[in-house]
Amino acid sequence: MNTNAPVTLAITGASGAPYAVRVLRALDDARVAVRLIVSETGWRLLSEEMDIADEAGLREATGDWSDVVVYSNRDRGATPASGSAASRGMVICPCSMGTLASIAQGTTRSLIERAADVVLKERRPLIVVPRETPYSAIHLENMLRLTRAGATVLPASPGFYHRPSTIEALLDFIAGRVLSHLGIEHSLGPRWSAGERG
Ligand SMILES: Cc1cc2nc3c(=O)[nH]c(=O)nc-3n(C[C@H](O)[C@H](O)[C@H](O)COP(=O)(O)O)c2cc1C
Repeated sequence: MNTNAPVTLAITGASGAPYAVRVLRALDDARVAVRLIVSETGWRLLSEEMDIADEAGLREATGDWSDVVVYSNRDRGATPASGSAASRGMVICPCSMGTLASIAQGTTRSLIERAADVVLKERRPLIVVPRETPYSAIHLENMLRLTRAGATVLPASPGFYHRPSTIEALLDFIAGRVLSHLGIEHSLGPRWSAGERG
């Protein structure tokens, strides 16, 4: 894996926009270059859940963006769609069941879907952070398909064994797991200790 290459971060229209903001801020703090793609419904959730209406608002909430490049989800020919572009992997946080299903079927009808398809075919890390409850058999089958194709399904299910007392601590838990799975050092969330469940 090229550890200097950018991470592609996609934000889709599942509840959990604060997780996305936390992951983007953590990548920015870690000085990791980011290729950012936000779906239409992703923007809607950023607005509904965090009052973030546009790119300027997202930037204000997440860092200096010296190494963030934003791509339109409609541009299926943009850099993240190319297997030859160096990449450290891709995170979809939060990941809607709609996007998850499309990736599981390989439809590639948006840049997010195409970029995920490419990450899988190139055998790079793909981390999807779904947020839905309960799951239907279709959701579970799609998650199994993605797991079998090499993705990591990392649900937005923070643990409570470290006794979090703030929402920030819950966000840090998930953002920390995402960065760990990308092999990026961080100081988010509880450190592993004997008895921790995962
Ligand atoms: C307010 C709101 C909340 C939603 N929450 C979820 C959710 O938690 N999980 C989910 O899978 N879909 C959720 N959806 C549905 C997705 O946004 C919808 O399936 C959409 O087509 C996904 O498109 P995208 O994956 O391109 O963002 C929600 C939609 C809205 C408007």
